[in-house]
Amino acid sequence: MSNTLIAPSVLAADFGNLQRDIEMVNNSEADWFHIDIMDGVFVPNISYGMPVLKAITLHAKKTIDVHLMIVDPDRYIKEFARLGADILTVHYEACTHLHRTLQAIKAEGMKAGVAINPHTSVDLLKDVINDIDLVLVMSVNPGFGGQSFIENTFKKVQRLKQIIAENNAKTIIEVDGGVTDKNAAELSAAGADVLVAGSFVFKAEDQPETIKNLKKIANS
Ligand code: DX5
Ligand code: ZN
Repeated sequence: MSNTLIAPSVLAADFGNLQRDIEMVNNSEADWFHIDIMDGVFVPNISYGMPVLKAITLHAKKTIDVHLMIVDPDRYIKEFARLGADILTVHYEACTHLHRTLQAIKAEGMKAGVAINPHTSVDLLKDVINDIDLVLVMSVNPGFGGQSFIENTFKKVQRLKQIIAENNAKTIIEVDGGVTDKNAAELSAAGADVLVAGSFVFKAEDQPETIKNLKKIANS
């Protein structure tokens, strides 16, 4: 049986009731908090920054998984460590010296993740796969929640799983964007270890139940 984890994306939470939504995740079967940081440059949207992350980490009792959609992320690695990020994921497309960035993240005591856009081939990660704790496969174009899932993601996850096995790497695979109860089982079968879900969780009427079901489907 697989053990696929669920990471609700706080981007889709109700910011007027942020503490309530964080407590909902704390008390649910969710495994991680997924935190999307956007700078309006790397992606055409600005989400939230340090003060909001600080408020989240104050109440969150689960792994803090930070997804940076920003240019030149090296500038903020120390700050994210200080604010309590457990996993810090940078975009492949935003890093000129990816290997150096990964070492800098680990030097701050965090797990190092690399996110790839839908157009970026997983094969580009071969030479650094043993240095990556987590690969985040974007299944929508980054920038917004609530978009539809790109079907080519299944193939990418399968190929990535192969690369990881061929290199005896311990890298885990996270899929982010448009995840629902319709694609969770297939994603998990393709090799996804963590599923991020924003709108599907927070727009639901019964959020804890939705998380529970999604986890059940992913691990069926
Ligand atoms: C998109 C973000 C995602 C987003 C997922 O740029 O990286 O984490 O919050 O939201 P849904 O699940 O609504 O596609
Ligand atoms: Zn994300």
